[in-house]
Amino acid sequence: MTGPDHSGVWRYRELVLPTIQTHEIVSHPEGNTPLLARPRVAGWVGVEGLLLKHEGHNPTGSFKDRGMTVAMTQARRTSARAVACASTGNTSASLGAYAALAGLPALVFVPAGKVALGKIAQTMAYGARTLLVRGNFDDCLRLAREASAELGIHLLNSVNPFRLEGQKTIVLELLEQLEWDAPDWIALPAGNLGNTAAFGKALREAHALGLITRMPRIAAVQASGAAPFAASFRGGFAERLHVDPETIATAIRIGAPASWDRAVRTIQETSGVVTSVSDAEILEAKAIIDAAGVGCEPASAASVAGVKQLRARGTIARDARVVAVLTGHVLKDPGAVVAYHQEMEPPPEHANRPIEIEPRVAEVERVLRR
Ligand code: F0G
Repeated sequence: MTGPDHSGVWRYRELVLPTIQTHEIVSHPEGNTPLLARPRVAGWVGVEGLLLKHEGHNPTGSFKDRGMTVAMTQARRTSARAVACASTGNTSASLGAYAALAGLPALVFVPAGKVALGKIAQTMAYGARTLLVRGNFDDCLRLAREASAELGIHLLNSVNPFRLEGQKTIVLELLEQLEWDAPDWIALPAGNLGNTAAFGKALREAHALGLITRMPRIAAVQASGAAPFAASFRGGFAERLHVDPETIATAIRIGAPASWDRAVRTIQETSGVVTSVSDAEILEAKAIIDAAGVGCEPASAASVAGVKQLRARGTIARDARVVAVLTGHVLKDPGAVVAYHQEMEPPPEHANRPIEIEPRVAEVERVLRR
């Protein structure tokens, strides 16, 4: 099979963009990501029925491609002259690749010095004009919004509703992989809250159509240094909070999430929870996922770290069926991997230190004997 029907997004086109004509679709293709059972990860978390939905298997290595194919299709369809986004790195990589496919000029706003190496490399490689903004993601988004409005550029952040329509297919696809027998929980990392919003909409629609008969609960997991949504949840969402963000998980280093209201609706409608995990917990979860041969970027590991924490607290039962979404590929952030395994002092528990040797068999033997 070739063409858009091969895409894990456009297979669901009736629920994504029903009026689209096949020839209008800008697709690499994307989606069709695996749902993995990895007993070592499940055992570490303490939930035997844990499955990992690995969105790092998308063409640019993150879930962003699912939203981008839809938003780029709509941009070209409506004759956009250029496209733009603010990003912590993955959206910019995805925008670059899809703009190249669509033949549209692309402009990205990223926080200077705070984007993981793999993502900035991709963005430059795919040909997007890359602006390193002296500020954080929240400053980038404000600037991208203002510049797009003034200069007539098509903004493709997740504030663009077409992005969320595409991102719904993460949930539709995992439900289909489970033969529409919905899990008890779906856990995901939360930054700008676009995905949290999209997941709620997908579940709402799947339930209304009778594709599933009960609602999974959403667990949205933030990094503790960038957790305004988790703090607000603890206060019953009485206040919309913002913080000055800091975390090793640069993808979710966001202090003023944009899709706030829609994400609140998701949590409320699914009896969901929002929690936060420390950078140390994120790095440990990542080391476990990586060492299982699966691999993911730091932000993605927040979902698994969150499930472990919610299990320890008794919120998630030992026999629960849980899907944790891994949002990005291990190679997105090689700097984090090298720092963890090679540079941190003292070495963390799961550090896999490389050993430098002279080119002699005796030295190899010495290493093997250790
Ligand atoms: N995981 C990864 C790997 C991400 O790149 C992001 C967001 C998230 C999780 C959080 O998703 O924002 O929908 O709550 N990355 C955006 C970007 C901000 O610019 O690439 P969210």
